[in-house]
Amino acid sequence: MVKFLLLAPTFFIFFPSVMTQTIPSSDGSQGRWRLLHANVGISAMHMQLMHDNKVVIFDRTDFGPSNISLPGGRCRIDPSDEALKIDCTAHSILYDIITDTYRPLMVQTDTWCSSGAVLPNGTLVQTGGFHDGDNVTRMYTSCPDDICDWVEYPNYLSRRRWYATNQILPDGRIIIIGGRREFSYEFFPRPSPRRQTFQLRLLIETREGNVENNLYPYVHLFPDGNLFIFANTRSILFDYNQNRVVREFPRIPGGDPRNYPSTGSSVLLPLDENEHSIDPEVLVCGGAPRGAYQQALRGTYVRAISTCGRLRITDQNASWVMDTMPIPRVMGDMLLLPTGDVIIINGGQSGTAGWELGRQAATRPVMYHPSNPSDQRFSVMEPSPRPRMYHSAAILLTDGRVLVGGGNPHIYYNFSDVFYPTDLSLETFSPPYLSTQYASIRPVILSVDDTVSPGQRFLLSFSVGEYIAGSVLSVRIVAPSFTTHSYSMNQRMVVLRIDEIIDNETSSSYTLSVVGPSSAEIAPPGYYLLYVVHSGIPSSGVWVRLQ
Ligand SMILES: *[C@@H]1O[C@H](CO)[C@@H](O)[C@H](O)[C@H]1NC(C)=O
Ligand SMILES: *[C@@H]1O[C@H](CO)[C@@H](O)[C@H](O)[C@H]1NC(C)=O
Ligand SMILES: *[C@@H]1O[C@H](CO)[C@@H](O)[C@H](O)[C@H]1NC(C)=O
Ligand SMILES: *[C@@H]1O[C@H](CO)[C@@H](O)[C@H](O)[C@H]1NC(C)=O
Ligand SMILES: *[C@@H]1O[C@H](CO)[C@@H](O)[C@H](O)[C@H]1NC(C)=O
Ligand SMILES: *[C@@H]1O[C@H](CO)[C@@H](O)[C@H](O)[C@H]1NC(C)=O
Repeated sequence: MVKFLLLAPTFFIFFPSVMTQTIPSSDGSQGRWRLLHANVGISAMHMQLMHDNKVVIFDRTDFGPSNISLPGGRCRIDPSDEALKIDCTAHSILYDIITDTYRPLMVQTDTWCSSGAVLPNGTLVQTGGFHDGDNVTRMYTSCPDDICDWVEYPNYLSRRRWYATNQILPDGRIIIIGGRREFSYEFFPRPSPRRQTFQLRLLIETREGNVENNLYPYVHLFPDGNLFIFANTRSILFDYNQNRVVREFPRIPGGDPRNYPSTGSSVLLPLDENEHSIDPEVLVCGGAPRGAYQQALRGTYVRAISTCGRLRITDQNASWVMDTMPIPRVMGDMLLLPTGDVIIINGGQSGTAGWELGRQAATRPVMYHPSNPSDQRFSVMEPSPRPRMYHSAAILLTDGRVLVGGGNPHIYYNFSDVFYPTDLSLETFSPPYLSTQYASIRPVILSVDDTVSPGQRFLLSFSVGEYIAGSVLSVRIVAPSFTTHSYSMNQRMVVLRIDEIIDNETSSSYTLSVVGPSSAEIAPPGYYLLYVVHSGIPSSGVWVRLQ
């Protein structure tokens, strides 16, 4: 009876986005949502998974009291704060995956719309923000005794970095690119004694007046050591050492911008060491048509972009190959999952990024399967019970779940009388591969060398209930991302070369001899999550440190 009602035509009229999909599954074949906490006190605007399985989360300091107090009666006193000059609430928390608990952290200056990257030694470096925070660098280092907190370095940056993108480099430095009205890049650590910035013409040329449409540029480190930088509709291969454009690629077809506030997203597809030569491919999906921002200000929320462009840059005449997502999406997050698939999650189906400018939450994530035939690349997942609009975020967790939080399309923490109230919850999405029906073929990592060196062999043992002979077995490392504004900085996956599989006969366990990534350009040094994937089903991740 219920099914019949759901299939009645009126249902489609009221919920056009559901038209092409089946009704929600209960068997986990479209994944599962779970609410972890209805209220963690802040809105998860920026998120970074650390190698101690804790997640650093923060929003901003200049929009009034959050719902979690600073510990020990501390307060933040900021005469220049427009919303609250004495603020005794926290705007950052540390979420512990294992215990499913969280505690407040203290940020002194404004982290709004900032960027970050994790150093090879595991310390998170966050840069910039707004107002008194716009040239501050902050560091967070994990500690075993749970008292560690942010340390701030005021006036560290040479320019204000608000809506910039960071990328970890092969030598362990971080490059910080762009920001609102800043058409330049600089490095962490800064050279001494003098700070240095370098102009980036692409950012000047792609800026569209006050709307911009080129903020939070998509930056991917390529195996040849150059950076791929995408802004608006254009993209270049860039040699940051010599401040030189190596190549410019064709504009993405369709003519519509893909960067903030026409926020789409982008990933570098997995780099596969088993290929004869590594063939990097970039995927850019979603966004909002040119003019969407101005139209939204006038109350017209235009349909988001539904196309993805995929660029294989080693082709001499590289050109974008276009695909159409089953659901249009602006402000969608794109994450590489342990299987090598890409999940496109969060965001809206119309309007654009910015205060109150998004509409029609895109509650159903979509999975993109990069190696499927072109007409079978997408599958649609179970809808989230909560909209996740502007200032929401998603990251991959150690065990393969996706952590989703945030949503704050207002100047303040407004919980009523607004479209899409500020959301303080955290929830997880478990992709179909986590379904218990795969328990017998899910690999379990028993041991692995915890340090991996470029090009060096290391051993890894795993067990599996039922080994499917001839099925695809792979070992993958994933760099956890710094995610904000629908873009996951530093995210990358390398499929490692397995050069021997030893069957331990008696114990249904196997030992693999695996070769570390062949260079720091393919995988910069740092902490990675390592997964064994057997027949499409990933193990839980274990942390390895790449030298
Ligand atoms: C959080 O919100 C609840 C419910 O509105 C309120 O009772 C509590 O005082 C708030 N806590 C803080 C620290 O703002
Ligand atoms: C990592 O390096 C940074 C910069 O040198 C330093 O401030 C931080 O304390 C280091 N972290 C660890 C865990 O050693
Ligand atoms: C940023 O740094 C510059 C140069 O050190 C300084 O003059 C300026 O006041 C700083 N801006 C803020 C907002 O602190
Ligand atoms: C690339 O394009 C140029 C100019 O259109 C053409 O001459 C050349 O043959 C193309 N190369 C390949 C490999 O398609
Ligand atoms: C949002 O919150 C602010 C600060 O609490 C308040 O001044 C404003 O009226 C609220 N806006 C709406 C639409 O409720
Ligand atoms: C499996 O065999 C390898 C190589 O002989 C050995 O190093 C490893 O300890 C064995 N693992 C288990 C779980 O028996």
